[in-house]
Amino acid sequence: MKEKVGYAVVGLGVGVNHADAAAKSARADLVAVCDLIQEKLDKAAEKYPGVLTYLDFDEMLKNPDIDVVSICVPSGMHADLAVRALEAGKHVLVEKPIDITVDAAMRIEEARVRTGMKAGVIHQNRNNADMAPILDAVRSGRIGDLYYGDFEVKWFRTQEYYDNGGWRGTWEMDGGGSLMNQAVHTVDLMQWIMGDVKSVTSKMNIYNHKISTEDFTASIVEFKSGAIATFVSTTCAYPGLNTGIKIYGTKGSIEANGDTLEMWKIEGAPEDEEEKMLADYSGNSAAAALDPTLCTGHASMVEDMIAAVLDDRDPQILPLEAIKSVRIVNAVYESARTGKPVIFD
Ligand SMILES: NC(=O)c1ccc[n+]([C@@H]2O[C@H](COP(=O)([O-])OP(=O)(O)OC[C@H]3O[C@@H](n4cnc5c(N)ncnc54)[C@H](O)[C@@H]3O)[C@@H](O)[C@H]2O)c1
Repeated sequence: MKEKVGYAVVGLGVGVNHADAAAKSARADLVAVCDLIQEKLDKAAEKYPGVLTYLDFDEMLKNPDIDVVSICVPSGMHADLAVRALEAGKHVLVEKPIDITVDAAMRIEEARVRTGMKAGVIHQNRNNADMAPILDAVRSGRIGDLYYGDFEVKWFRTQEYYDNGGWRGTWEMDGGGSLMNQAVHTVDLMQWIMGDVKSVTSKMNIYNHKISTEDFTASIVEFKSGAIATFVSTTCAYPGLNTGIKIYGTKGSIEANGDTLEMWKIEGAPEDEEEKMLADYSGNSAAAALDPTLCTGHASMVEDMIAAVLDDRDPQILPLEAIKSVRIVNAVYESARTGKPVIFD
């Protein structure tokens, strides 16, 4: 039984967060990193003494000291690289979105089952501190029956952000714009909190960027439970506003901005409960609304993946769970294109 896993990362944009987490973990050794850009590899070699650097992903996969690979390349390449890693006998932790289509994402699930290796997916906002009490209020029935959710991802990204790397804001590699890239985190939280989706009816537009996808979507989402949500995503909201997660039930109303609770009103709750909850659950995840380099929270998911391998259990978020948000995002795009609701099975 190994005491430490050998960790590797492909894609050194946000992948640096994964490498940092693996390098700091007491239960992992950061063995290798891979990127197509030599300068990024040189920087990594300086930062992580002893780390091996690779320009070629398949060469890296031949290294027997690597147990887990974090897949942090552009979204439309996730399935391709994840499947290659699984077939090479490596476990994978895949960045969000799992891939940009349900079919591509299913290839990861099929390879996971076929190879018996582990596959986890990053949706780190599920670990925001305020999610536990919100989920508890819903699942325990304290908030009553949910009838409405209001979700908004009013973020800001510059044109330079889209130009940098060339893949962002393209249908081929980003799979969309503000919804598939930035708001997919909140789509994931929405379906986690509100349950299975029945239909979506949507509009989308490009208001303030030279990209081929969208920088604004607005949707009405109907759930199998009968509840309704409205969902807005944008990267035009200067200078980067909020991540609204607002849910309303027959016995209470809860509003949060990212990981910060802003309202907590539950029928029959002790008088000081709201004050206490707002004081206890005040974070800073809203920073990502403004600056993509401030997306945090990866360390807990990398640590979970390492533990999953060492303790031989499932990672926190399995492919079939991560596919749900990709299905919803693509349904929004389909509805916006056709002008018709998309009904789920
Ligand atoms: N969880 C989060 O909060 C979060 C935040 C940012 C990005 N992401 C996700 O991470 C992924 C990467 O985004 P990013 O912003 O880091 O992009 P990026 O363009 O900054 O970095 C991607 C890197 O992958 C490298 N790359 C591309 N193809 C490669 C290949 N075949 N082999 C080796 N390296 C290759 C590129 O050279 C580049 O350095 C995307 O799927 C994105 O959605 C997640």
